[in-house]
Amino acid sequence: MNYPAINECHIGFVGAGTMAYAMASGFVSSGAVKASQLSASAPSNRNLKKFEALGCHVTNNNNDLFSHLSAPMRHKTLKIIFLCVKPLVFKQPVLDMNAYAKEPAVLVVSVMAGINLETIVRRLEVDPADCTRNPDKGSVFVARIMPNTACAVNAGVCGVSYVTTGARDYSQRLKAFLSVLLTPLGVCEFVDEKQMDAVCGLSGSGIAFVYTLIHAMADGGLKMGLPRTVANNIAAQTVLGAALMVQKTGQNPIALRDDVASPGGTTIHGLHALAKGGFDAVVMDAVESATKRSQEFS
Ligand SMILES: NC(=O)c1ccc[n+]([C@@H]2O[C@H](COP(=O)([O-])OP(=O)(O)OC[C@H]3O[C@@H](n4cnc5c(N)ncnc54)[C@H](OP(=O)(O)O)[C@@H]3O)[C@@H](O)[C@H]2O)c1
Repeated sequence: MNYPAINECHIGFVGAGTMAYAMASGFVSSGAVKASQLSASAPSNRNLKKFEALGCHVTNNNNDLFSHLSAPMRHKTLKIIFLCVKPLVFKQPVLDMNAYAKEPAVLVVSVMAGINLETIVRRLEVDPADCTRNPDKGSVFVARIMPNTACAVNAGVCGVSYVTTGARDYSQRLKAFLSVLLTPLGVCEFVDEKQMDAVCGLSGSGIAFVYTLIHAMADGGLKMGLPRTVANNIAAQTVLGAALMVQKTGQNPIALRDDVASPGGTTIHGLHALAKGGFDAVVMDAVESATKRSQEFS
């Protein structure tokens, strides 16, 4: 099977919560995917309302979602199912998609923290060798991503791994397609499956650590007399600017930090306060704790 352009695919979200909506709105705001290409299913309308407002097809039944995606006129179109439920409830939705995943031109992409590809493939009752062996004869495509909520503003990170058993050529085509599919949501990094928990700790959960940093910096500005909105804006832009400097210069963050810290100046006094509070160790502990929690789900 040759992979189509992403504006020709049909994309379904099983689970319509925070992460699914971040991805759906990111796809639409990127302009790469139209809302009419997207559908979502969830047991209640609690979250589906936002999808409906975006212009997507919605349903309370996973099988209806699969039927909608496989309507006769879409017979040959690639269908992508993002599995966006909590790890604790994934068994039923995977059971629901068991038969559907084996239809031609279906790619299943799990966003669940901690549930490995082997488990998903086993629960789908798929032979791993069929995942990339012969895409023209109804092979099953299964991938796993670890996104973060900044996908909503096209500035997310997606760690990606996929089942590589089978012909290298097909596997390379799947990798190239996943990269094209996910790039509208932000940066896409291919990692070994065993590194996925660390991506969850660093980025999936890590974005929350950065919000905490922004909030704490803004509180510092407030304490020093800045109005709240001004403090929030300056703190957020400072984090954005620092991130862009690291990305665009390719320099080590410590080298960039040295450019700011002059002898006896304001910055080194602030850095001393961070060191006294154990800032580096606390942040490393946060990434480690989130990674270990993700490992516990496996
Ligand atoms: N949130 C993040 O920042 C983040 C980051 C990376 C990865 N993830 C992963 O993304 C997944 C979803 O997380 P979330 O934060 O988006 O969770 P969430 O907001 O709680 O959304 C879960 C969704 O699953 C739906 N659901 C429950 N049982 C279902 C079933 N049997 N069939 C279909 N849908 C069902 C829920 O339906 P209702 O709407 O009816 O409640 C809800 O829409 C998790 O596995 C998580 O590990 C999340």
